[in-house]
Amino acid sequence: MLDNIQEVGSSQTTFFELLGGQASGVENIRLLVETFYDIMDSDPKVAALRAMHQADLTEAREKLFMFLTGWTGGPQLYIERYGHPMLRARHLPFSIGDAERDQWMFCMINAMHRLKFEESLMIKLAQQLYGVADFMRNRQEN
Ligand code: HEM
Repeated sequence: MLDNIQEVGSSQTTFFELLGGQASGVENIRLLVETFYDIMDSDPKVAALRAMHQADLTEAREKLFMFLTGWTGGPQLYIERYGHPMLRARHLPFSIGDAERDQWMFCMINAMHRLKFEESLMIKLAQQLYGVADFMRNRQEN
């Protein structure tokens, strides 16, 4: 999946298109999110991150899928359903520092590896998501 990608990160091409666009973008984002939460739910290295979430991950899976579909440039499923994401505000109830950010990225990068995303796409997507994850930090650390 996702090989022969030439234009990763170019201004004309959205991540959604690189992930398969109309044909399979939604399906690939669904796979990415399912794999992301499967890792969060099973790898002891991210037990602290898992513990911040509800016991049942069904809603978290659905919301991240809807959010990322729009965020990558596909249909704005999350906004149509819930309005403006206000992502940082929605994360304020949780204490997020470097460790939580890094555990979140660990799950995401491992999910992309497991799904054999093409390397340049993986790097670009990880860079962009890191920016969002870093912005979610709300705990002062020295
Ligand atoms: C930086 C580390 C992060 C931590 C520790 C974290 C943690 C959480 C937690 C605990 C929830 C609530 C889930 C539940 O109720 O079970 C949540 C919701 C959510 N997170 Fe994160 N998150 C992080 C980063 C991100 C990033 C980078 C994104 C997007 C790219 C994201 C997107 C979302 C969305 C869309 C929701 C659902 C919001 C809603 O309630 O509508 N999160 N997150």
